[in-house]
Amino acid sequence: MEGVDHQEFVQEPQHRPSLSTMEAQGIPVIDLSPITSNNTSPSAMDALTKEIGSACKEWGFFQVTNHGVPVSLRRNLLEASKKFFSQSLEDKKKVSRDESSPSGYYESEYTKDVRDWKEVFDFFAKEPTLFPATIDEHNHRVVQWTNKYPHYPPAFRDIIQEYIEEMEKLAYKLMELIAMSLGLEAKRFERFFIRGQTSFIRLNYYPPCSFPHLALGVGPHKDESALTILAQDEVEGLEVKRKTNQEWVRVKPKSNDYIINLGDIIQVWSNDRYESVEHRAMVNCESERFSIPYFFFPTHDTEVKPLEELINDQNPPKYRPYKSGKFLLYRMINDFKKQNKDNLQIHDYKLA
Ligand code: OGA
Ligand code: NI
Repeated sequence: MEGVDHQEFVQEPQHRPSLSTMEAQGIPVIDLSPITSNNTSPSAMDALTKEIGSACKEWGFFQVTNHGVPVSLRRNLLEASKKFFSQSLEDKKKVSRDESSPSGYYESEYTKDVRDWKEVFDFFAKEPTLFPATIDEHNHRVVQWTNKYPHYPPAFRDIIQEYIEEMEKLAYKLMELIAMSLGLEAKRFERFFIRGQTSFIRLNYYPPCSFPHLALGVGPHKDESALTILAQDEVEGLEVKRKTNQEWVRVKPKSNDYIINLGDIIQVWSNDRYESVEHRAMVNCESERFSIPYFFFPTHDTEVKPLEELINDQNPPKYRPYKSGKFLLYRMINDFKKQNKDNLQIHDYKLA
């Protein structure tokens, strides 16, 4: 980030991170062995479903162990990511993302119109991924997006494809647990994803920053996904807004765990029983930091709205339906550059 205008990274005073945040009691840690081992008793499944339910309700964020994703795969991808970002800017820009093809490298993303101190590489989980051509509600044209792959390191494509398959398996399992915790049949959510999801994976690289008290790696935001599965390296940075007291809580890296957070789509599906929670990533002066979120998204033409089973006369729908792909496209365009206007939020679909 040499030679850039530092001013555009500076957060408004109320968003500036406190560098002395106390280590609060962390987010729940949940052992997934009942769904990753062979013989599981119904009572163990029951207990797990309850744990998931309270984590979703009280935090919207949790950490999972014994998740079944091979450790070597995650390590290989983190190493490949490190190698890719260590290249010169010129080399990285050879695989830049652009408005016609949003997969690729990008070095300046804006969250809520302040520049993030990070570099990213985005890949779609499915190739090609079908997306609406424009955000115009009346235009039904669809485009196919394909990935750009780095030339270096050489095995990148194989590693990331293998990793994506593992993320998908885990995401489906988690969605089943979440469905059961809401009293729905286990496969209730599957239909929204199997006909061509718009899920994508992001490599985040946060370079060391000389003014960590003023900037953020990712500004405060909620993920617009159904669910996010995040791998972070051993450097701290992720913070979660605790629902009970609105304080920022640091999420301590735990070797091979994954961090799961609910996104906007589950909030709408569950008619606010489970909320998408605000989070951000801090930067620091000494160490670079890497993280890899996988954002699990339904098919672009999914009409997102509160599920029928979860609404009734006493609990009417709180949102009007919106198209998953149009919303995501709007946000992708918006994050791409400074717009000087408020971003679209699911709040905008809220019924009075
Ligand atoms: C994100 C995100 C957190 C992190 O990319 O949406 O929240 O720790 N990242 O990198
Ligand atoms: Ni996020």
